[in-house]
Amino acid sequence: MTVISNVVKGLGCVLFPLALAAPAHAADVEVLNWWTSGGEAKALGVLKDDLAEKGIGWKNMPVAGGAGTNAMAVLRSRVASGNPPTAAQILGFDARDWAQRDTLANLDQVAQEQNWSEVLPQALQEFTKYNGHWIGAPFEIHSTNWVWGNKALMDKLGIEQPKSWDDFLAALKKAKDAGYIGLAYGGQPWQDATVFENVVLASGGADFYRQALIELDENALKSDTMVKAFDQLRELLTYKDSNSSGRDWNLATALVINDKALFQIMGDWAKGEFDNAGLKPEQDFVCFRTPGTQGAVTFNSDQLIMFKTDDPQQKEYQETMAKTIMSPDFQIAFSQLKGSVPARMDLSADKLDACSQKGYEQVKQAADADKLMGSLAHGYAAPASVKNAVFDIVSSFVNSNMDSQTAATQLARAVQGAKS
Ligand code: BGC
Repeated sequence: MTVISNVVKGLGCVLFPLALAAPAHAADVEVLNWWTSGGEAKALGVLKDDLAEKGIGWKNMPVAGGAGTNAMAVLRSRVASGNPPTAAQILGFDARDWAQRDTLANLDQVAQEQNWSEVLPQALQEFTKYNGHWIGAPFEIHSTNWVWGNKALMDKLGIEQPKSWDDFLAALKKAKDAGYIGLAYGGQPWQDATVFENVVLASGGADFYRQALIELDENALKSDTMVKAFDQLRELLTYKDSNSSGRDWNLATALVINDKALFQIMGDWAKGEFDNAGLKPEQDFVCFRTPGTQGAVTFNSDQLIMFKTDDPQQKEYQETMAKTIMSPDFQIAFSQLKGSVPARMDLSADKLDACSQKGYEQVKQAADADKLMGSLAHGYAAPASVKNAVFDIVSSFVNSNMDSQTAATQLARAVQGAKS
């Protein structure tokens, strides 16, 4: 052992594979995920620590890239080579896809013991179950129609929390005129699409969002309302800086954290970054629903899916992971660090911060009003083929001078093509 570690020390990471020769208990479960930012990694640590307390060793398999863009390719190749990880982080339609290929373990027993069907919102159960069987343990509920704002900058510039779209634009303009970045923006396709789904909801409301991005109705996709959504997106883009191309989401959040930018439109994983920087909601930063989207929530949820195995011990570990993730204490502890709200709707919000308390209540209200709708950018509105087609059109729009009418026409065409 000493010899090996000395050699490893001497040669640095070249001999990293030697670490794989460690005793089995050092890595009893291998978990693929894309939680690599400061806040995300801290939240994932809650699972690792809980498992360690239960005597289960952890091998992390992080694949950087927001929204899982890169992680999914790695997962496919691992499964294709007959070597799946024990478990993987996954989003809605992708979870269904793996279930359809008959690759996933059945979590019915744990789900029954913990009464999942009573505590999870119906809109989420559509994706945690397949053909009547439980396939994924949800860590949380995230939502994408949030704005994150720098409180000191708002105070300095005399900006109140915007209530309407016009107020929102006026605030962005004020920041820009004062020499700040109005909108912190990450120019990656999934981030373009995250902002896009916000403007679709803001310009057309919940029914329109559902028709266009969930039901994929051709007339809605090419409608005047969609043209208006692209117009709104074009206007928003005038408030980003010119270095946004390719920027990671957490670096965009850092612009708000570091007093460089006023607002960011982003899912509530952004709050994990504020927390990680030691900032407090309402005191140092503000959170509010994107103006024009109040009452509706575009959600996503990270689930842990388990790959089928014949090894009884692996099966036991998989069940323990599922049970741990859905336990009330874990759901709270994880969301406190991740920025999300619990996936379970039956918990006390006392230990959540002001943003998450508000968010938890809004998710419940939206669920009751049938306005808890899947996020397109984060895999809960349409299958990957359609999602990627939308990414292509929206990012072409963002990175060119394409007019809104052309964008809406192309969007409708691309979605029809991807559907068939
Ligand atoms: C996931 C979040 C993650 C974010 C950024 C989303 O799709 O649901 O858990 O923090 O992507 O990577």
